[in-house]
Amino acid sequence: MIDLQSIINKIYNDLTSQKNKGIVASYIPELSKQDSNSFGIHLRHINGDTFSVGDWQTSFSIQSISKVLTLSKAISLVDNNIWKRLDVEPSGNPFNHLSLLEQENGIPRNPLINSGAIVVADILLSHLKNPKADFLNYVRVLADDDSITYDEKVAASEKKTGFKNYAIANLLKSFGNLKNNVEDVLDFYFHQCALKMSCEQLVKTFYMLTNKGKCINNIQHITASQAKRINAIMLTCGFYDEAGEFAFEVGLPGKSGVGGGIVALLPNQFVISIWSPGLNTKGNSLLGMQALEQFTTKTNLSIF
Ligand code: DON
Repeated sequence: MIDLQSIINKIYNDLTSQKNKGIVASYIPELSKQDSNSFGIHLRHINGDTFSVGDWQTSFSIQSISKVLTLSKAISLVDNNIWKRLDVEPSGNPFNHLSLLEQENGIPRNPLINSGAIVVADILLSHLKNPKADFLNYVRVLADDDSITYDEKVAASEKKTGFKNYAIANLLKSFGNLKNNVEDVLDFYFHQCALKMSCEQLVKTFYMLTNKGKCINNIQHITASQAKRINAIMLTCGFYDEAGEFAFEVGLPGKSGVGGGIVALLPNQFVISIWSPGLNTKGNSLLGMQALEQFTTKTNLSIF
């Protein structure tokens, strides 16, 4: 039996003493208040065992990690119809890139880049009665935790400075791939990104993706086949122009956010989440990437 606790302790100790911890995101001003020394790891095995170290109970802004959760909600509502408005190819571009969207007539490459997530947000707006409240409730049920909330300050901060997202949403609208108002869709999108969660809560929320669509309370939210497809999209698109690097170094489906969080999983085995707010140049947590590389190398627990 591998001693997972001592492996994550060692990774934590080695990386906390590293000088270069990356740069905390500042293009959303509220995120720049984060301390680059924060660092937490939490893992839950499908057999119920959990392993934790550092700031695993501190909540942070999950940002783009939320795109997987809006995707799973949209898939549970419209299933394969979602693919009429979105593709499933890696973009090889930064998360907020615009030119491919124009070249490809307003069909986003995948649901995990900003343009794709904005289309998914539009779908949710069309199907949910009270989109923000209903989506928050969905996440709370997945995590079995009613304390999860939106960070209104982060949402407001991004609304003030989210010019690229306004450009993307307007471009989508011009191609007819946004049914609702740009303002309403972006208000929802900024809120989903502003969800506040700890590593522990993230791991619980993503548990259904390692467990064939069944959440921590054994409720079937999506089918096993839908979970398989979402994991495939995370593997190929979860890290934008670093998705190849993540597959190469880590070898797990996963998703990052500019708040410094990463969640990754091995189907039928475990979910792991890491938080360290300093980012690399591609907008992914620097220590998070390194910690996961060390984890799958030391344990041999990857899909490859
Ligand atoms: O739309 C944005 O720019 C942010 N709300 C989310 C970006 C993000 O997290 C990219 N991930 N690494």
